[in-house]
Amino acid sequence: MNAVDIINKTKKNISLTEEEIKYLVNGYVSGEIPDYQMSAWLMAVCLNGLTDEETVSLTLAMRDSGDILDLSCIKKTTVDKHSTGGVGDKTSLIIGPAAAACGIAVPKMSGRGLGHTGGTIDKLESIEGFRVELPFSEFTDIVNKTGFSIISQSGKLCPADKKIYSLRNSTGTVDSIPLICASIMSKKLALNADCLLLDVKCGSGAFMKTPGDAEKLGRLMEKVGRSAGKKVRAVVTDMNTPLGCCIGNSLEIREAVELLRGNIKGRLYQVCVTLTANMLELAGKGSLSECRAMAEEAIASGRALTVLKETIKLQGGDDSIFNDEKFFRAAKYSHVIYAPRDVEVISVNAEELGMASLILGAGRINKDDEIDYSAGIVLEFEPGDKISMDAPLMTLYSDCVSDFSEAALRAYNALQFKTLTGMALT
Ligand code: URA
Repeated sequence: MNAVDIINKTKKNISLTEEEIKYLVNGYVSGEIPDYQMSAWLMAVCLNGLTDEETVSLTLAMRDSGDILDLSCIKKTTVDKHSTGGVGDKTSLIIGPAAAACGIAVPKMSGRGLGHTGGTIDKLESIEGFRVELPFSEFTDIVNKTGFSIISQSGKLCPADKKIYSLRNSTGTVDSIPLICASIMSKKLALNADCLLLDVKCGSGAFMKTPGDAEKLGRLMEKVGRSAGKKVRAVVTDMNTPLGCCIGNSLEIREAVELLRGNIKGRLYQVCVTLTANMLELAGKGSLSECRAMAEEAIASGRALTVLKETIKLQGGDDSIFNDEKFFRAAKYSHVIYAPRDVEVISVNAEELGMASLILGAGRINKDDEIDYSAGIVLEFEPGDKISMDAPLMTLYSDCVSDFSEAALRAYNALQFKTLTGMALT
């Protein structure tokens, strides 16, 4: 077996055997196969795709490149949830606690922001003292105590994905459905929860831009997960518009807390209830409608908020965020964008707002950039709202950028308006 033959087979659309895929992955992780050969194979996959069987073999070879966790010390059914990434997506901070409050265990490993999309670990690091790295026994102890813990991806899990992902990032080979599937599912199968809910984001702010591609990725991930013996379900949710009103790390923690306090309804709330209900149903807690009612009650009663508060405290985070509004200090600089005339906001381009937020310092433009946790954008409307001239549309925040011209232009251009005539001003 050799790498050139394997590259040529994929180039000519000839299926690889399980052994050939294992040889490629193991050889790349050990350093015997160099970056240039792996890059050539990845590009062949981008152009020609892989069969479902090849994708299963690739996922399992990547999973087996590192540790596979043994979660048997967790007493309850374990359910993991994965979102394929978006703008303003703080759902993990809401549905993990809500599902745990309904009697299942949610041991979760999350990632950092990627491009214009935010990452849950960056959001949590905006809380003073919060530890995103825990020894495995402390992680599972917290899950046994509160039902929920969230940490960053351990370096010992899926080293193959780590190496292949950074190569994909620099060789234009990220946007391939089988490669995205193998990357996500290898990490999820290494975490090894009993059940897995996949939230496939679809739209301008997501990796999958069309419903067809989102559907295809969801079905493929379900197939791969089931072939590894897991209960898996994929749901497709909209990411044309940012989720909720806040984009940016500290701002999103605040919005998640407000939702768990019962103060926010709307689309973010509905998406969170739907995802929590699906996790509960997968774990055998009842029918989908019963599970919806359980999820709503867990939020309305404040039990989900208690889970989040206890988890943050056990992970070393400053839990005064739950008592003291002043904890969320405003950023050093802010800039309000006003409606230029009486308008109805027809649409909001999530990717463009994600980019504006990145310019303000909320994410990393280069790999090693430091994040400004206070940076971000707060929208003052929901799509469809009518806004009168000179009323605020959104506020931009930053500690590190005082000249808002670039970010403000980008954020403003993300909105599509309909001009209103004869609007009754209130
Ligand atoms: N998230 C991942 O973990 N991998 C991908 O390839 C894309 C999104």
